[in-house]
Amino acid sequence: MVKQVVHTFYDKWAICSFYIFKDGRFSMQYICDIKLNRSISKASYLYDLPVIQYLSKHKSIPLTHNVTFFVGENGTGKSTLLEAVAVAYGFNAEGGTKNFNFSTKNSHSELFEYITLAKAKFPKDGFFLRAESFYNAASYIDEQQDLIKSYGGISLHKQSHGESFLSLIQNRFGGNGIYILDEPEAALSPTKLFTLIVEIDMLVKKNSQFIIATHSPILLAFPNAQIYEFSEKGIETVSYKETEHYQLTRRFLENPEKMLKYLLED
Ligand SMILES: Nc1ncnc2c1ncn2[C@@H]1O[C@H](COP(=O)(O)OP(=O)(O)OP(=O)(O)O)[C@@H](O)[C@H]1O
Ligand SMILES: [Mg+2]
Repeated sequence: MVKQVVHTFYDKWAICSFYIFKDGRFSMQYICDIKLNRSISKASYLYDLPVIQYLSKHKSIPLTHNVTFFVGENGTGKSTLLEAVAVAYGFNAEGGTKNFNFSTKNSHSELFEYITLAKAKFPKDGFFLRAESFYNAASYIDEQQDLIKSYGGISLHKQSHGESFLSLIQNRFGGNGIYILDEPEAALSPTKLFTLIVEIDMLVKKNSQFIIATHSPILLAFPNAQIYEFSEKGIETVSYKETEHYQLTRRFLENPEKMLKYLLED
């Protein structure tokens, strides 16, 4: 898949690498590696998460592509890791840009203190979309009159969930940025998911990096993405069609009657 070429930039002790793909593409991401910098107490629930066990053993989760997906069963630690990466990077724990300064409930884990991010370059833009708190981020934007303009000029609360989310991406995401999104599909119809794929592609072409936790078998199809599948066994790199989400959805859509019969009878 990739050839790791040179070790270069340092952030604390984490090391970034250049990657050259077989097709000649070149990659060096804003965040290019996630490492544990010390061990986590066995008393913490974090210790038992498969992804933490994996990090303890393998020491690092390289981010080699412009788009990295975290996919897997509910409760396998995708949001926990994503939020820790966002907070360790300097984003507000409840979402928004690095300049957002609000807090309604301190519900993120302390994992961010235990990870070190390897960074290769500095982005000009960035946003963290936290799954549960887009509403609060929208309220914060509403309160800052000068901010609303850069979010399309209409209060995000006066748009539907999906409209406000797309308006955020189309008006506020400017490129040369790092975008960390937790389940962006939550608001979107299948048609608008295709729009999201197009928007992500445009931003990737403008030198952006995305780290996305998702359950969407449509979004996961984004080309040239790195997919980490989280499970009880830890995490592993898989191809799109190897993901359980793709396989189960496909099996269901090929024959919904058969699947429903299996699920509902007896
Ligand atoms: N404060 C907490 N105390 C104990 N366990 C917690 C706490 N917060 C989260 N957990 C547990 O950590 C596990 C991972 O949660 P996380 O939200 O990261 O899962 P996820 O992979 O994002 O799931 P989903 O697909 O449902 O969004 C869950 O089993 C959850 O119950
Ligand atoms: Mg989650």
